[in-house]
Amino acid sequence: MSNSTSYKAGKRSNKSVTFFVCFLAALAGLLFGLDIGVIAGALPFISHDFQITSHQQEWVVSSMMFGAAVGAVGSGWMNFRIGRKYSLMIGAVLFVVGSLCSAFAPDTQILLIARVLLGLAVGIASYTAPVYLSEIAPEKIRGSMISMYQLMITIGILAAYLSDTGFSYSGSWRWMLGVITIPALLLLVGVFFLPDSPRWLAARGNDDKARRVLEKLRDSSEQARNELNEIRESLKIKQSGWGLFTNNKNFRRAVYLGILLQVMQQFTGMNVIMYYAPKIFGLAGFASTSEQMWGTVIVGLVNVLATFIAIGLVDRWGRKPTLKLGFLVMAIGMGVLGTMMHIGVESTVAKYFSIAMLLMFIIGFAMSAGPLIWVLCSEIQPLKGRDFGITVSTATNWIANMIVGATFLTMLDSLGNANTFWVYAGLNVVFIFITIALIPETKNVSLEHIERNLMNGKALKNIGE
Ligand code: BGC
Repeated sequence: MSNSTSYKAGKRSNKSVTFFVCFLAALAGLLFGLDIGVIAGALPFISHDFQITSHQQEWVVSSMMFGAAVGAVGSGWMNFRIGRKYSLMIGAVLFVVGSLCSAFAPDTQILLIARVLLGLAVGIASYTAPVYLSEIAPEKIRGSMISMYQLMITIGILAAYLSDTGFSYSGSWRWMLGVITIPALLLLVGVFFLPDSPRWLAARGNDDKARRVLEKLRDSSEQARNELNEIRESLKIKQSGWGLFTNNKNFRRAVYLGILLQVMQQFTGMNVIMYYAPKIFGLAGFASTSEQMWGTVIVGLVNVLATFIAIGLVDRWGRKPTLKLGFLVMAIGMGVLGTMMHIGVESTVAKYFSIAMLLMFIIGFAMSAGPLIWVLCSEIQPLKGRDFGITVSTATNWIANMIVGATFLTMLDSLGNANTFWVYAGLNVVFIFITIALIPETKNVSLEHIERNLMNGKALKNIGE
């Protein structure tokens, strides 16, 4: 059992190889974040240039999420056929093409097509990168490595908010969308140097290559051999994907858990703030555009900084306590924000207090559900059904994301500001109980061990024991 893994002194080089590999894969996360963040600031200028209706604006935003859902669905199959490395490469090419097309789009139609292409790229990246990271990283740091992926997402969002704010003075939305080509090219070049995932290689019967990759990534040949043996062991279950889903009720539980986890992440209400932060600053009494733009940058910054809390906690404190605390913090943040809207935000103190609550919510998300849901989703699927299971959960992330993004303004109109925030506060309270009842603790447990427990029918919340 590789739980007994020991990291011997004098073997630093392998660690840095692993770190480099994980860093590169996490670059995919940076692009994910850039593309999520960039549209908030670009949209007003695009709408002005192309003279589009608010309905068309909604399409400009949500076409990417649509593409991402499709990309995530296609990724399962693609990852199975060509592996993680080449899937990331296709994602990188789409990032480059999508960024260039959107920067040069002559009209709304081309822009929409470009956004769908970018969405496909984001969908592939959001599927492939966490899987790859979970298969490459040694289990002791697996949680932190995937959290690093989330860190890159948040840095991407912040960078997009900053660059939007910078370009907003000249009003150049083409530059806002176009600069993303640079990190996209970087990813494309970097991906060439990545090794194939040892788990994927072993699943294709390529044991020799898998062993060689593991030897490069682990501290000793013994460790590499042990890990390969564990992988072989877990490969003995002969079905995969849809077949496994229809025949095996234990696997079905993992798929449903993945869906639930991603619905929980999106229904915390995080993206309501990511997409509509300037508007929320407006509701909290900040009237000028520059106040709203810079306020949005602060939201992005706090999101990055609080992700470090998760990186520190995830492999020490564990997934469950961090999640429970995070949902609690988010419930309080949203709840009090709703109450402020109910009372009416008039004084300066009330304005800043409301924003403090908004930031508290961001901290709650970034330290918990943001990274941890991706960590858990990549950990709970058994190897033979991993591609299928993660396809389903990642597609769920994007579909739920689209629903949240597309209903917020309607909710404000029909329920009122306070009630809208209270609904999200209430959902976060419910998620605390779901975490207690259903979510497993997977800290410091090998993927193979989790798989054995799951397939032996252990209760979901105990599969990490
Ligand atoms: C979520 C995104 C969200 C981002 C914010 C990610 O984990 O999947 O929907 O926009 O975190 O940091």
